[in-house]
Amino acid sequence: MTQTITPLIAGNWKMNGLRQSLLEVEKLAAKLTAGEPPRCTVALCPPATLINAMNRIAAPAGIVLGGQDCSAEASGAHTGDLSAPMLADAGAQMVIVGHSERRADHGETDEMVRQKAIAALTSGLTPIICVGETRAQREAGEADAVVSRQLAASVPDQAAEHDVVIAYEPVWAIGTGLTPTSADIAQMHKSLRDQLISRFGGRGEGMRLLYGGSLKPGNAKEILAIANVNGGLVGGASLLADDFTAIIWAV
Ligand code: 13P
Repeated sequence: MTQTITPLIAGNWKMNGLRQSLLEVEKLAAKLTAGEPPRCTVALCPPATLINAMNRIAAPAGIVLGGQDCSAEASGAHTGDLSAPMLADAGAQMVIVGHSERRADHGETDEMVRQKAIAALTSGLTPIICVGETRAQREAGEADAVVSRQLAASVPDQAAEHDVVIAYEPVWAIGTGLTPTSADIAQMHKSLRDQLISRFGGRGEGMRLLYGGSLKPGNAKEILAIANVNGGLVGGASLLADDFTAIIWAV
């Protein structure tokens, strides 16, 4: 690979965090600004209720904020949903779309995820588009086929002109302490890279490919050193400043 990619370490807080949790972000901001600047972009995706308040602490420390989902619509009669322009207005610059928890809990299909990614791009947000196989699919030898299908159908053509991030998160690795072997991660990320290049040419070479699923201080160095792994999407370990900075420093 000739292109240099600035890695991204993004924390997904999921449905965790009250205003009190901003103390942890103050701690994170202090750690990141105390020493050498991190060798990656650092992002946090808190619940939408915290984006605005968190941004006041995060922005001066260079931490980018993101949402965890957005509607495919910009506005309208969709009680309880949040649109991409709303997230941008609150201070977000990114948004996770198609996380496996949303695919499972809310029946989101690849087509819905693609529409959400388009809505994000239209509002100037960078979508972090998630793909990943279940344990049953991996055991049946279908991981490659499933993930390839998700990638093809969830990533919009507009990705050719805009910044998009792809996160490979095997469902069975999320919150379980289990991770694929480094060889399996390398193989999946190589396959994702090849597909992006064949679809988007040079742009596909520069798109960030994150690994997610039980990424912790103890395994970050090994996983983040794998070819075509351009950072991580971190769940549990992003809630504590000490753990999250340890992963950031592992880049
Ligand atoms: P964990 O890091 O808690 O396994 O969660 C990963 C994840 O789902 C990030 O989006």
